[in-house]
Amino acid sequence: MRNLIAAAGLALSGIPAMADAYVPSAEVLESREQFAADRFGIFLHWGIYSVFGQGEWYLNYGPKADEYMKAAKAFYPAQFDAAEWVGAIKDAGAKYVCITTRHHDGFSMWHTAENDYNIVDGTPFGRDILKELSEECERQGIALHLYYSHLDWVREDYPQGRTGHTTGRDASRADWDSYYGFMNRQLKELLTGYGPIRAIWFDGWWDHDEDAVPFDWHLPEQYEMIHHLQPSCMVANNHHQAPFEGEDIQIFERDLPGENTAGLSGQDISRLPLETCNTMNGIWGYRLEDQNYKDSRTLIRYLVRAAGMGANLLLNIGPQPDGSLPATALSRLKEIGGWLRENGETIYATQAGPFPAQSWGTSTRKGDRLFLHVMTPETGAILLPEGVEIRRAKEFATGRGVKVSKAGAHHVVHLPDVGDVDDLIIECEMK
Ligand code: GLC
Repeated sequence: MRNLIAAAGLALSGIPAMADAYVPSAEVLESREQFAADRFGIFLHWGIYSVFGQGEWYLNYGPKADEYMKAAKAFYPAQFDAAEWVGAIKDAGAKYVCITTRHHDGFSMWHTAENDYNIVDGTPFGRDILKELSEECERQGIALHLYYSHLDWVREDYPQGRTGHTTGRDASRADWDSYYGFMNRQLKELLTGYGPIRAIWFDGWWDHDEDAVPFDWHLPEQYEMIHHLQPSCMVANNHHQAPFEGEDIQIFERDLPGENTAGLSGQDISRLPLETCNTMNGIWGYRLEDQNYKDSRTLIRYLVRAAGMGANLLLNIGPQPDGSLPATALSRLKEIGGWLRENGETIYATQAGPFPAQSWGTSTRKGDRLFLHVMTPETGAILLPEGVEIRRAKEFATGRGVKVSKAGAHHVVHLPDVGDVDDLIIECEMK
């Protein structure tokens, strides 16, 4: 640890010796608890890549870094208004925001002292959007998580991995100590200059995966530094593996825990708080052609199904190069917000239901209150799995009683005729 601190040029003292096994602090345990109660957060993928309108991986697909980096000089998001963003996110019922502070293109969305390739020194805009966002989050009571890319397609000291081979870097100049020190100093800036950060959300580990040459990312020391700098800050890593020592959240990408349609989420489910990230449309960063937004019903049902598995949904928006959120994204936020205002009681601070998702939907619970989320009923009644014993049931929206009967060992809930709704919620009292 001391070597790391020296290499990273960090003037820290009083750091506890590295423990063999990670023991989360009381503060981090409290963050985990808050986080798990939140259930819904908004992901923001924003950087100079939005100028090209080709998504956040554009640099990987051909341009040379020195040409690409010129976009910084054209980045003037005049419409950026942190209060408006956070307001819209809060009205949507989201409880936290996770923003890309530095994506794979290496551009820093805060005023880093490490280089000029950042939002303040490198653009005509010259405003520290992270500062503005962090202050606004604090003002409006929204927790802030920071996405930080481990990999970098621009810096020559980053030891090249599986991606970013065509950006014109001289791979022979790789220098891990230099790169690691750079990252740790940047993380220190983020954790000391922007108020309370509830999580650092890493991405890019997979650039050097175990099938390639073995690679040591030196994560334990980095995680320990984070936990030391802000004891309540959680560590998350989108490595698509079961959690590593020192992590506080388990992430799934584009799939609910236990499902793996996108091929990124085959890992076992741990006992840590769970989060799945997904997009409103196709890709993460703003992309001109990507207007294929999921409708609000799909998004609401995804959130409900995540809650039914005890997981949070981190739902992504790619802000436009002018600094505004796309109109369709704003309208989805409004619709989700309207739904959560009515039904949030059955989502926030709930646990996964006592049985896995069924063909008709899923369930969440709070103590002995069981919420059946009936989204795709096949008949007018649903059969609860054997062993799920309920005393009585009512329609959550109206409080009207709902008939319950028995069929062999199963309780049967007779559904009221409510027509076509996103989610018919039946509240049951469990035995
Ligand atoms: C992937 C992509 C990245 C995106 C992230 C979000 O790992 O590399 O562009 O930021 O997923 O989950």
